[in-house]
Amino acid sequence: MLDLVPTPPEWADHALEDVEALLSDHAHCEKKAAQQAMSLLHAVADHDEVVVRLARLAEQEAEHLRRVVEALHALGLHLRPDTTNRYTAALAADARDTIDRLIVAALIEARSHERLALLCEALDRRPALAHLVPLFEELRACEVGHAHTYLQVASLLCDRSRVEARLGRWVERETAAIAAVAMRSAIH
Ligand SMILES: [Fe+2]
Ligand SMILES: [Fe+2]
Repeated sequence: MLDLVPTPPEWADHALEDVEALLSDHAHCEKKAAQQAMSLLHAVADHDEVVVRLARLAEQEAEHLRRVVEALHALGLHLRPDTTNRYTAALAADARDTIDRLIVAALIEARSHERLALLCEALDRRPALAHLVPLFEELRACEVGHAHTYLQVASLLCDRSRVEARLGRWVERETAAIAAVAMRSAIH
């Protein structure tokens, strides 16, 4: 569905250098994912089924936020302040309408899915953190579902062929945006 450029294999070990920063960033990502789903509701208010799907998605992201914060606390760590996410900011800056915003949301979900898989592999090699793998696996499965949901919603709002025509250019923008971000203890 979404053919993203692969993340370099060394990324996960960089990301795990500061677990408090990584989990804090991810908690804020989940918070912003919930906010994003809710902010899109006004654009789809005429589509009853879509409203429910986005409301459910927002609920899942809010639950992810809670669970990531609980995982932080279980490690004796604390939620740090949110930081600027240059990757999502670069993509959001280029979104011109609701269809663009839905495609951007799908791409961010798909990238999160790809990177959570890399983190799970790296966590398996770290016994002190391996207990995080089931949580990250669960989040990962949800995020790929969310990517599908956003693209399905876009196809309900406008013709699927028009969505697919835009998608190619957005994948190129995503490739540039993810490459421009230095490796750090964050999902992106
Ligand atoms: Fe999530
Ligand atoms: Fe998500």
